[in-house]
Amino acid sequence: MTLTMSVSSLFCLATCWVVPAAVPAQELEWQTAELALRNVSQRHGDSGLGFVQRKLSTERKEFQITDSFMPVDVDGAYDRVCRGIDPFDDDGSYYIVRGEAAAESLESCKRACVDTPGCRGIEFRPGRCEVWVRAGGIQATAVTLRVVCLRYVPFVLAAGVEDRACRGKDEFDNNPAYYEITTTDSLAACQDLCLQRNLANLGSSGSLSWCRGIEFGGNRCELWTRTEGIGASVELRGVVCQPLSPFVLVDAMDRGCSGRSDDVDEHFYTSYANVSLQGCKALCAEHAPFCKGIEFTNAYCHVWTRVSGIEKTVPRSGAMCLRHGETGSVGDAFEKIDGGSDRACRGMNASDWSPSYFEFFAASKSIEDCKSRCLENPMCQGIELNGYGCKVWTVIVTTSIGFSGTSCLRYSAFVGVDGGARHGCYGVDPVETTALQFPADSIAEQCRSACAQSVGCQGVEYNETSCEVWSSRIMGSYANVNRSCMRYKPFIAVHGGMDRACRGMLPDDAWPGYYTRHVSILSDLSLQECKALCTSTAGCKGIQYDVRSSVKTCLVWKRRRGIQMSSDQSGTLCLRLGIYDPFEDSSAFESLGHGTCSGVVFSVYPDVNLDRCKLHCIAVPGCRGLDFGPEGCRIWLSEIAINSVNMTSDLEAECFSYEPFRDVDGGMGRDCRGHDGSDLDSSYFMQFPAGSLQACQDLCVQQAEGDVVGKPCKGIAYDSTVGSCRLWVRSQGIGATVDMSNAVCQRYEPFLDLDGGSGRACQGDAVGASYTYNLTQVANLEHCRSLCLASGCRGQLHS
Ligand SMILES: *[C@@H]1O[C@H](CO)[C@@H](O)[C@H](O)[C@H]1NC(C)=O
Ligand SMILES: *[C@@H]1O[C@H](CO)[C@@H](O)[C@H](O)[C@H]1NC(C)=O
Ligand SMILES: *[C@@H]1O[C@H](CO)[C@@H](O)[C@H](O)[C@H]1NC(C)=O
Ligand SMILES: *[C@@H]1O[C@H](CO)[C@@H](O)[C@H](O)[C@H]1NC(C)=O
Ligand SMILES: *[C@@H]1O[C@H](CO)[C@@H](O)[C@H](O)[C@H]1NC(C)=O
Ligand SMILES: *[C@@H]1O[C@H](CO)[C@@H](O)[C@H](O)[C@H]1NC(C)=O
Ligand SMILES: *[C@@H]1O[C@H](CO)[C@@H](O)[C@H](O)[C@H]1NC(C)=O
Repeated sequence: MTLTMSVSSLFCLATCWVVPAAVPAQELEWQTAELALRNVSQRHGDSGLGFVQRKLSTERKEFQITDSFMPVDVDGAYDRVCRGIDPFDDDGSYYIVRGEAAAESLESCKRACVDTPGCRGIEFRPGRCEVWVRAGGIQATAVTLRVVCLRYVPFVLAAGVEDRACRGKDEFDNNPAYYEITTTDSLAACQDLCLQRNLANLGSSGSLSWCRGIEFGGNRCELWTRTEGIGASVELRGVVCQPLSPFVLVDAMDRGCSGRSDDVDEHFYTSYANVSLQGCKALCAEHAPFCKGIEFTNAYCHVWTRVSGIEKTVPRSGAMCLRHGETGSVGDAFEKIDGGSDRACRGMNASDWSPSYFEFFAASKSIEDCKSRCLENPMCQGIELNGYGCKVWTVIVTTSIGFSGTSCLRYSAFVGVDGGARHGCYGVDPVETTALQFPADSIAEQCRSACAQSVGCQGVEYNETSCEVWSSRIMGSYANVNRSCMRYKPFIAVHGGMDRACRGMLPDDAWPGYYTRHVSILSDLSLQECKALCTSTAGCKGIQYDVRSSVKTCLVWKRRRGIQMSSDQSGTLCLRLGIYDPFEDSSAFESLGHGTCSGVVFSVYPDVNLDRCKLHCIAVPGCRGLDFGPEGCRIWLSEIAINSVNMTSDLEAECFSYEPFRDVDGGMGRDCRGHDGSDLDSSYFMQFPAGSLQACQDLCVQQAEGDVVGKPCKGIAYDSTVGSCRLWVRSQGIGATVDMSNAVCQRYEPFLDLDGGSGRACQGDAVGASYTYNLTQVANLEHCRSLCLASGCRGQLHS
């Protein structure tokens, strides 16, 4: 890549070598402080800032050719402070001063820049790191000793060479919806437009279409906004394709990459020979987001895909270790603002704050819980978390201020399809959408909020006047200047996400019946696609994505109770879709959102409350759900489960599906047993023929609710090969399962939350006997429920 220079920096070279007036007094203080410290560290040998200085000088000669940071002036980056349009143009709004951790070294400052959307460069001296976010970038510098000013140019050459045109998924995929065409007179100006676009996105509440790279030839500049990025390229003379892909040199030159300990496991990387540095970076960019960095020498290129990334470096002559991309990103719907840590959220500018901007939860102390609170609020725009609790922001968070011990994350569950803006959605027939009308000035927010409030929403498509909420799968996009198309992906990292495998109730609970496995060799199945597989699967609870030995595996989790646990597993990412609420989950009624249920037959019970309405549903065999609203309580009877809600009808109503059967040990491929796997007695069940699982379940409900023999149905074992339905009537219920293909074992658990359930204690009409189990006896809510079922109880209270 050619080094670029602005006209104003040439002006600076000619005229501003000595500009003491342009150096603020505070900076002179920094210098003095630094010199004093240097005297100390010289006396103490290698420690402290002296070490930093040594690193700076080792890097001095090579930085132009290594990572994404370039000098602003041709003759070097050192002894320069950054400026705006000219050497006198300095303003506090041009940069964010980052905390102590970022100011430790040039490298940590660079990483702070990479983690800050809209970063245009850095100014660094030991102890102070400024991340520059000025709209026009850094166009000039002024001389100040022992300060480094570097411009951030995070582009790599596709395939490592010039004369390439960008493509999408593969070399045949050149959908015009992927890019916008503009005109610039230089490659640098085209790169600049791309970075400007991302900076402008920060302040916008509309659909974000992040620039993912550029294609430049003649004076045609294409800004690529395809969400999955530039996935391929083809040969084309006179054109360059440059995916946006940041790299940061780790430690210094003559260092190789390493994991936790010094031994380098060959599974950590893929080795290539005869590749240039540009080619090596391009290989890494192609493996994003799984490429964590590269180790490069003249002899080889190692593309690192170890999930925990590069942790340190080891001395290796002639090698350099470059880290790729943002650090600490876990791939869920939350992104860090200005690096995330030690930052407090602000609205449109650093002084834009009001207590009305957020809801505060003092009890919420973990990042995962705070994220869940955000998902519960359809207006959530971001979260702020510290030792005092969690704030759910409901106005757009565009910036942040330094604030020790606080984290600020922006929530963006809507991911533009191919960039989102100026695209319409397409799907495969039959396409299911609901059209809603909102005022033009708030259609983007209201349309997304309608989607977030409905169950099974796949995404939204809108123009100035009309909003379409998609409930069938969005396959892709087409170019249309008047429309926007976004997928809804409210993923939350489970226990940090990275190096975690998803589990059911316990750390070893992972029955194959919980998920569907999708496997693919190399680049075919991206994390984005795995997420899309989940959001388009009814009942998806989350994904587990692994990259091991180049084989990418995507597990789409459908376990009824979702992902409750995770366990250590290197190379694996576990993301939950939506919220997990153990209390809400304990009820057999699941809210499908506002509106009436869609279906055929219902019976109306006017003048009953919601709890009574649920009891009516439980008592009627064949009840699949209910809606409750101005028209009263309506019980829906149908052949199949209710899974959609009529959003165009009365929004004061709410529709609930009723699913009282729960899988035991994953359900599928399991047959029920009594106390343990060998405990089976003919008195435990009554056997009937049944044409389907649903028919078998209905028999159980009928037997339980109309129980005359004093042996109510506690669950079912259904075998689809012979159509046999066993109604379990063992008084202690189902205690264990065994392997049996084609069988399904489920418990009948018609629980409902009284008065909303959580936060309520039970009370009978008269004081009578009640059972209490101590927490040492009851592991969790599920255990409490099974104790209840086994003892024929009338309800349960878990606290
Ligand atoms: C650093 O040490 C030198 C002598 O080694 C001394 O002349 C200079 O004043 C010291 N600088 C500071 C800032 O203390
Ligand atoms: C690498 O390059 C050298 C010299 O250009 C050549 O002799 C060798 O065959 C190449 N190796 C491979 C694997 O392409
Ligand atoms: C910050 O933003 C708020 C809300 O948009 C505005 O009222 C205020 O004037 C802005 N302040 C500054 C200093 O720009
Ligand atoms: C907006 O989209 C609807 C269909 O979704 C269409 O009927 C209407 O004409 C469009 N309006 C504009 C201004 O493009
Ligand atoms: C976009 O909207 C404008 C003005 O409403 C209209 O003239 C134009 O034809 C529309 N374009 C498309 C592709 O629908
Ligand atoms: C949705 O509700 C509207 C208004 O009540 C009604 O006209 C329409 O038929 C309903 N659609 C379905 C699919 O039930
Ligand atoms: C629960 O624990 C308390 C104190 O340890 C004990 O007094 C009580 O009997 C226990 N209750 C049951 C039901 O075991």
